[in-house]
Amino acid sequence: MTYSELQTPQRTIMTPGPVEVDPRVLRAMSTPILGQFDPAFTSIMNKTMDMLREVFQTTNKWAFPVDGTSRSGIEAVLASVIKPGDKVFIPVFGRFGHLLMEICERYGGEISTIECEWGNVFDPQVVIQVMKNVQPDIVAMVHGETSTGCMQPLKEIGRACREQDILFVVDAVATIGGTEVKVDEWCIDAAVGGTQKCLSVPSGMAPVTYNERIEKVVLSRKKVEKGIATPLDEQNQSDGPKITSNYFDLSQLQDYWSPRRLNHHTEATSMLYALHEGLRLVLEEGLENRFNRHLTHEQALGAGVKAMGLSLFVEEEWKLPMVTCIKIPEGINGDSVRTMLLEQFGVEIATSFGPLHGKIWRIGTMGYSCRKENVLLVLAALEAVLLYHGAEVKPGKALQAALAYYTKESNEVSLSM
Ligand SMILES: Cc1ncc(COP(=O)(O)O)c(C=O)c1O
Repeated sequence: MTYSELQTPQRTIMTPGPVEVDPRVLRAMSTPILGQFDPAFTSIMNKTMDMLREVFQTTNKWAFPVDGTSRSGIEAVLASVIKPGDKVFIPVFGRFGHLLMEICERYGGEISTIECEWGNVFDPQVVIQVMKNVQPDIVAMVHGETSTGCMQPLKEIGRACREQDILFVVDAVATIGGTEVKVDEWCIDAAVGGTQKCLSVPSGMAPVTYNERIEKVVLSRKKVEKGIATPLDEQNQSDGPKITSNYFDLSQLQDYWSPRRLNHHTEATSMLYALHEGLRLVLEEGLENRFNRHLTHEQALGAGVKAMGLSLFVEEEWKLPMVTCIKIPEGINGDSVRTMLLEQFGVEIATSFGPLHGKIWRIGTMGYSCRKENVLLVLAALEAVLLYHGAEVKPGKALQAALAYYTKESNEVSLSM
């Protein structure tokens, strides 16, 4: 048996992650491996931490990636913070709220939850009122729920958590690098980002940041592994309940990311190069420009989809700016449409989960995939495939609406210059 070299096809990836990786990131990934304690490498680690602070809009000391997919960052924070019996309140508005519940339960949290209908978000005052009744130790919430295309306002909830001395943990996996995630201003104690979405980096690392309120809990549970612990570490082992995961133990991870460089795992070198380049790209573009770019392409896509005669699933007010959910027209097989898009046009869009599977398509406009040519292609291809499937769409309208939007935008930009 011979195995041929990979010949991966070129795709236009318009899902809510993973998305197309910026060519500069791919180039960075192919640069030579360095040892993880080589000063040339630790300097890359430090610069990555600096850039993460800027992207998370925080002055937190701790901002570093956890190796693993985005849920590894979520799990590291929750495993390190939740002590058995802690009360954790999780308002759920989609699949990833359930993921938070699932992880919190496994680490012994006593969970309280409220759930709203998928496609909606919570009035912050409702969350704050329930918080008053439940009096949790921790509130954990998703910012951008990719399963439903909704974005939860967090500022008031964060402030209420701080006033009531509750730790506020946020899944910003989908939103980081694509829209505002103001960690300090919104009183978020720990936030977790994703690489494979608006940062245009492959999946495999989860940037986290947390403040001294979280660090205090983490240090109260600190135990250094035997085999690397010094006599002083042995002496300073805390009495708090041990963090039950080794891999996700932030007390050890932060020692590794500090000047002490205490050995923990072997760093995923090429992924760190990728994240470093991805963050450089974000900061070169500028946060505000990048957020505006995401809004522009979202608006053009939405204009095209509506002009075609399709309906959006989420109200404009709480729509996630980098994910557009479209109601699948009555009588149309959503999976068959997606398959044809992929096979005939090389365009990938997503279905949804649980109760929404077969009811909506999800189109991502994230990071490097968030470009005019991608939006125009996905609209043209979707229209053609829907016509092929016998759907009642208005031919020719979608591209004209998107083009009109882009032309108006560029005229406005040149007038304002
Ligand atoms: C909002 C949100 N949270 C968490 C995750 C889990 O991320 P991963 O699949 O990288 O572990 C995802 C993945 O799509 C997500 O969209």
